[in-house]
Amino acid sequence: MAETINEVKFSDAGMAEIQRYISHYPEGRQKSAILPIMHVAQAEFGGWLSPQAMDKIAEILNIQPIEVYEVATFYTMFNLKPVGKHVLEVCRTGPCCLRGADQVIDMLKEKLNIEEGETTADGMFTLKPVECLASCGTGPMLQVREKFYENIDTEEKLDQFLETMRNTEVETPYHQAQ
Ligand code: FES
Repeated sequence: MAETINEVKFSDAGMAEIQRYISHYPEGRQKSAILPIMHVAQAEFGGWLSPQAMDKIAEILNIQPIEVYEVATFYTMFNLKPVGKHVLEVCRTGPCCLRGADQVIDMLKEKLNIEEGETTADGMFTLKPVECLASCGTGPMLQVREKFYENIDTEEKLDQFLETMRNTEVETPYHQAQ
């Protein structure tokens, strides 16, 4: 990862996407593009936002770095330290817990040999319990990038899910944007 803000470089495709988001807003209102730009940065820089990457976003939007840090620390979808290939965001809010979310988290800890917030030794998975993902009727559930995996209510389903993820390549979401 880059050591200084000057070493933080977006790809040409990433910069084009950033400019496209900024163009959606009137002059002086570029800050409104902060969320999609943070997603571009996270996708470009290995799935997490370093302080230098956030400083770069602030520079691009002509805002104070603290304004980026505030957003990054509010939303759990942004990672503030290096993560694995797949970040398993497991909902642990009430309705999902009633349907076994705690057991899913415990099984993941045991199967992956990690604690919450940690990444497996092979760099494949990061375990990240989060609050409600608005799929309460299909819990226990988890999210990996933009995709929901629902009704993970047996160990067999969890094993199938992990096997699927091990064979899933990561796509860069913003390249699919219209
Ligand atoms: S409680 Fe789990 S998605 Fe809402």
